[in-house]
Amino acid sequence: MAYNFEFYAPTKVLFGRGMEEETGRQAKAFGASRVLVVYGGGSARRSGLLEKVESALEAEGIASWELGGVVPNPRLDKVYEGIALGKEHQVDFLLAVGGGSAIDTAKAIAYGLGEPDRDVWELFQHTRKPQNCLPVAAVLTIAAAGSETSKSCVITNEKTGEKRSCGSSLARPRFAVMDPEYTKTLPDYQTGSGCVDIMMHTMERYFTNGGNMEITDALAEGLLRTVMENAVKLHRQPDDYDARAEVMWAGSLAHNDLTGCGNDGGDFMTHKLEHELGGMFDVTHGAGLAAIWPSWARQVQNDCLPRFVRFARKVMGITAAVPDEEVAELGIQAMEDFCRSIGMPVNLEELGVRPTDRQIEEMAESCLAACGSSTGSAKKLTKEDMIRIYTNARAAR
Ligand code: NZQ
Ligand code: ZN
Repeated sequence: MAYNFEFYAPTKVLFGRGMEEETGRQAKAFGASRVLVVYGGGSARRSGLLEKVESALEAEGIASWELGGVVPNPRLDKVYEGIALGKEHQVDFLLAVGGGSAIDTAKAIAYGLGEPDRDVWELFQHTRKPQNCLPVAAVLTIAAAGSETSKSCVITNEKTGEKRSCGSSLARPRFAVMDPEYTKTLPDYQTGSGCVDIMMHTMERYFTNGGNMEITDALAEGLLRTVMENAVKLHRQPDDYDARAEVMWAGSLAHNDLTGCGNDGGDFMTHKLEHELGGMFDVTHGAGLAAIWPSWARQVQNDCLPRFVRFARKVMGITAAVPDEEVAELGIQAMEDFCRSIGMPVNLEELGVRPTDRQIEEMAESCLAACGSSTGSAKKLTKEDMIRIYTNARAAR
């Protein structure tokens, strides 16, 4: 049965070659006059994109200041630095040039400047809800997190090791510029991680026990098959523009809620479990998801069997005439084979992480605290379930 839903995807998308030249005009149209440009470790400068974007702002008479040095698994101290800079220059608009890390940093700064007398970290601790936020936009350089159209923002508090998210449509980007050309310089590991992350955003919404619609399932399955096909192409041929374009657009559709309409809001426990790995070991997000998903899937498959069977048949192309439990397992194995085929890990050892029993317990406790209580749609996970998932994920079965 289809559940009621709200679908709100207001981000204006400018997609394709040369679209970065539109940035100034769009920013002006959305009311920007003093912009803080947020970027990462330097890839956007090396490719020349940053300069083009800043020239496009200047051509529209928009003043801009830079905040560089955002790291993957972006940190709270950079957010505070951005808030101070934003206050100093009285910025009225945030523009990220980069991936999820730059965009999420821009979103968090925008929250901080929207309520300048409050500590922004409270939003990530969920002790209050955001009431105000400056406008944000993105010029995307990696197909992965989907932050360019999503309402989420994920920040790591480097002092406590907590990686936490805040979700509100206040921070949804006003516009997103996506030129696939600029993703050709991505290292293979980042391309692969991005493709897994995109798939997981749809899979988190697919493996549910509440509410389903055929149209949503069909969109999700088509998206998953398309990303897999093009991820394999990009592993072999990183400069394939059309394959870059396919995954870039898929990345936005996978996380703007389209592939969750009519269900119960999704599961998202693979993400929650991975965020603990990110907080403790600073792993690349998509690779972390690839490493934890098979163990999660085997832990919950019997509680959500029809969805695992459908995934195996419609996404992974399993045709074997065997009992449902075996079909589900074949689907999970096919996902592992796909991940390995693009250089992604399927367990923690392959990810390069060896948590002790104590660390596993700490991650499970922290994950439960972040969730508030046993959470999940495929299965509500207890602390013991989480410990089992991390433990079984340690190495190949
Ligand atoms: O910092 P630079 O020099 O730009 O290098 C980055 C970084 O090292 C590099 N890169 C990006 N574009 C490139 C490039 N290198 C060469 N050429 C390019 N065109 O790639 C590395 C990863 O960048 P990052 O922004 O961290 O990637 P991603 O988009 O995967 O973002 C990951 C972050 O987003 C969060 C993740 O948890 C993680 O913190 N997520 C955000 C979500 C959201 N806001 O909706 C949802 C996701 O589930 C996710 O949790
Ligand atoms: Zn993700």
